[in-house]
Amino acid sequence: MLACRDGFRTIWADPDGRILIIDQRKLPHDYTVVELETWRDGERAIADMLVRGAPLIGATAAWSLHLAAAAGGRREFERAAPALAESRPTAVNLRWAVERMQAAAGALDGEALAAALADEAENICDEDVDISLGIGRHGLEIIRQLAEKKRAANQSGPVNVLTHCNAGALATLNYGTATAPVYLAHEEGIPVHVWVDETRPRNQGSQLTAYELAHNGVPHTLIVDNAGGHIMQHGMVDLVITGTDRTARSGDVANKIGTYLKALAAADNNVPFYVALPSTSIDWTIDDGVRDIPIEERNPAEVTDVYGVSGGHRTTVTTTGEGTPAANYAFDVTPARYVTGLITERGLCEASTAGLRGLFPEQAER
Ligand code: MRU
Repeated sequence: MLACRDGFRTIWADPDGRILIIDQRKLPHDYTVVELETWRDGERAIADMLVRGAPLIGATAAWSLHLAAAAGGRREFERAAPALAESRPTAVNLRWAVERMQAAAGALDGEALAAALADEAENICDEDVDISLGIGRHGLEIIRQLAEKKRAANQSGPVNVLTHCNAGALATLNYGTATAPVYLAHEEGIPVHVWVDETRPRNQGSQLTAYELAHNGVPHTLIVDNAGGHIMQHGMVDLVITGTDRTARSGDVANKIGTYLKALAAADNNVPFYVALPSTSIDWTIDDGVRDIPIEERNPAEVTDVYGVSGGHRTTVTTTGEGTPAANYAFDVTPARYVTGLITERGLCEASTAGLRGLFPEQAER
């Protein structure tokens, strides 16, 4: 993996027009680049989590629609659009990306359609990097203030940020959302350290966040998911920053399962709990996130089985006895009242309809 500042990308078109992704299921042990040859490959890559993270799955859907149009014109594009929008249920970025590609398609067909969709997919990817950098700049101010506060109080040590899941460069096009402020702080020389939640069952923390922080030289420590409350009680966390797959216009935040428990622990310990929110993850049609955001349920085998490396070989082991039933809720919703603030590319706001509309007045009608 390239460092963020060296122009890392998670999906790209090579000079021959091939659409390439990293198979994130194999990280951190193998860095494997895979070609998406058809839109069905893109759909599978999203559903099977070769790519994951709300912004990246949106970008993958966008490139997949270009592939559909290149292979089968308007007809294939129209077949692919609803299937890609539904390839995973929780992240609203999929719907957002598909709608944006539909707008770019207009009434075009044939080569003109495929070319217009390639341009738009490229735009979506470039804009995502700008969005992450915007979030990074606004979040950096929070980290800077905490560093100054610590210095003024003669407290030694770095600013300790706890994050859950992977809302990093690998979940976006580059820089990430929750990690962007951390990367910018690190680049600026502000001492920062990240507590990385393991994030069972798929271990996006231990396998992706830890991996990319290491490649960017950011000090970090892996902890089990249940350690967050303990280290907050002992003053070892200065702030929590998580990502989001869908944030209702009320400020309720859907993110990886376990995020809600971190927010409760943060509230009990007066630790600021921020959510890094790209505007592409806002669902302006939903008010009550707990009631209305669809929560993905994945294969229970992800709970009973654990993937890793043994003797140099990638392997999966079963940790449960035969016949143990398991349930695999992939996301949960943190009510807005537990969110200290939302960090968007346009600035910080309160987790509320008024807060979001203040930053995005063009959505005031919704
Ligand atoms: O199931 P995943 O790995 O796609 O879940 C990803 C997350 O929950 C991220 O925190 C979220 O998508 C924000 S990514 C910037």
